[in-house]
Amino acid sequence: MSDNGLSIKSYVTRNGRVTKAQQRAFNALGGKYCIPFSDSPLDFYTVFNNYNPVTIEIGFGMGSATAEIAAAHPQKNYIGVEVFRAGIGRLLWEIENRGLANVRIIEHDAVPVLEKMIPGGSLEAAHIFFPDPWPKTKHHKRRLVKRPFTNLLASKLMDGGYIYMVSDCDDYCNFALSELSETQNLMNNHEKFAAGQDWRPVTKFEKKGLARGSAIKELFFHKTESPDKPD
Ligand SMILES: C[S@@+](CC[C@H](N)C(=O)[O-])C[C@H]1O[C@@H](n2cnc3c(N)ncnc32)[C@H](O)[C@@H]1O
Repeated sequence: MSDNGLSIKSYVTRNGRVTKAQQRAFNALGGKYCIPFSDSPLDFYTVFNNYNPVTIEIGFGMGSATAEIAAAHPQKNYIGVEVFRAGIGRLLWEIENRGLANVRIIEHDAVPVLEKMIPGGSLEAAHIFFPDPWPKTKHHKRRLVKRPFTNLLASKLMDGGYIYMVSDCDDYCNFALSELSETQNLMNNHEKFAAGQDWRPVTKFEKKGLARGSAIKELFFHKTESPDKPD
């Protein structure tokens, strides 16, 4: 892990819960659709065999939203980054089953993936749906959507690209709103929170939040060429 202020332990490893079917999918399809972690920047053309715009999704969980969005937008490419083997197995199965040519997976911590593998200014979008909320104050340092990570993420977006985060944790949403507002070269076109995007499917964690009666909040920030904000 990096030592430049980007060391975030934003997840707990949950590999114990992999079903036999998920492991089978991982064994059979991992080589076809997973990109191994590497210290070198990816060449998206080599990965997808086209120049279509690329979205990264951080923490796709079971990947149902990833697969649906990718199926609905075949003219766009998607890289899902996740550390949860069960979810990776599940999404691999979806990719194969739906014949999705525009999805690849990196099984690794998203922070070094962004640092090492994603070229600057290369992404059309970053999706972060229901990131682990880390509600206790002593755990806030484990939240992913905070600086300097958001500066790193913004640096990987092309001009006009966007970061789209959704959460049902009110405190995290307010925290992320403040962090993204202070992030270099990002612009919020909404006064605070955005309206729900009609193309985003409901995710597994969203269903849980809705069942608890939580409100869903959406943050949608664009990359701009405006002068840098002070750190
Ligand atoms: C609360 S779940 C949400 C999953 C999914 N987006 C959804 O809405 O159903 C958060 C996911 O983010 C993943 N995650 C957290 N930190 C990560 C990191 N640094 N790199 C990759 N995945 C991460 C976790 O493994 C977990 O599956």
